[in-house]
Amino acid sequence: MGATVLLTGGAGYIGSHTLVALRAAGHDAVLLDDFSNARGDVPDRLARITGAPVTVWRGDVRDRALLARLFAAHRFDAVIHFAALKAVGESVERPLDYIDVNVTGLVALAQAMRAAGVFRLVFSSTATVYGTPEAWPIPEDAALRHESPYAFTKLTCEEALRQAAAADPRWQVGILRYFNPVGAHESALIGEDPQQPPNNLVPYIGEVALGRRPALRVFGNDWPTPDGTGLRDYIHVEDLAEGHLRSLEHLLAGRGGHVVNLGTGQGTSVLEMLAAYERAVGRALPHEIAPRRPGDVAVLVADPSRAAALLGFRARRTIDAMCASAWAFVSRRATGG
Ligand code: UFG
Repeated sequence: MGATVLLTGGAGYIGSHTLVALRAAGHDAVLLDDFSNARGDVPDRLARITGAPVTVWRGDVRDRALLARLFAAHRFDAVIHFAALKAVGESVERPLDYIDVNVTGLVALAQAMRAAGVFRLVFSSTATVYGTPEAWPIPEDAALRHESPYAFTKLTCEEALRQAAAADPRWQVGILRYFNPVGAHESALIGEDPQQPPNNLVPYIGEVALGRRPALRVFGNDWPTPDGTGLRDYIHVEDLAEGHLRSLEHLLAGRGGHVVNLGTGQGTSVLEMLAAYERAVGRALPHEIAPRRPGDVAVLVADPSRAAALLGFRARRTIDAMCASAWAFVSRRATGG
């Protein structure tokens, strides 16, 4: 029989794709989301994709009374914790809000889990905990450092979970360090749908393709990379969702906690990503070279070998599939679909 899993932030970009992957594997999930960065129609879209209604609890993960009611109403086998603030630049402006939502949120959740006797947790972390890496591809045992309040919150949560697990062996925690998730579900019904103007590369190119922005600004072409633009490890969100499924199943099988990178091991430049998106749209898109963006690094590429060895996880979808699915989603969304 499948597991019942709580997905905090389950209506968001990665949470929604993970719900689809869980159901395809015979599990089920309950969503907790405050819809601060997710559209209200995501649960209906998930029901259309998966063929069954979705149970949604609307609220804040810091709300302890709500958490107590939620854990009393459902018998969860595990929790996947996505709910968090995630914009690096915004975190510099609002560090206390980031610490409150991300760190207080995790502590409230973990204490509610412990009170309910639920000790399997998959946690959304990020490659930004490696700071400016000394070398790449980056293995999980590379040095960790925080270079933004956002990175600080994720490192603090990782450390809090390590300490909780050291103190109480009932905890089984999977920490997943995401590289750059892009793309959308093949149905084009769910995808990356930020409530604010996008800062990230692929959503921004989508805005240019829709004619809402005049041109992509390429942040620097003088980086020490083959074409001078930044190299990132883009991973299709459907592959990322499958990574969560593997992590969850590892915990359910009692194989123990883990810290793994979720990436492909391949670096793609800004100009290569733009070219792939142009292939998806079928026409050239305007771009201009702009100064480097503060805080950026030249290269962020995962060593994905631990995820392969430990979880049997390998990302398999291509850059062209990422851009085609992203474009299918945003162009459908723009016409009201
Ligand atoms: N870029 C541009 N123009 C843009 C936007 C981005 O040239 O308009 C470039 C960036 O300079 C970088 C690359 O495209 O070289 C990717 O930038 P993103 O903003 O898409 O992604 P980042 O790698 O900067 O950041 C992402 C997440 C963070 C996370 C980080 C760590 O947004 O939350 O990865 O892996 F912390």
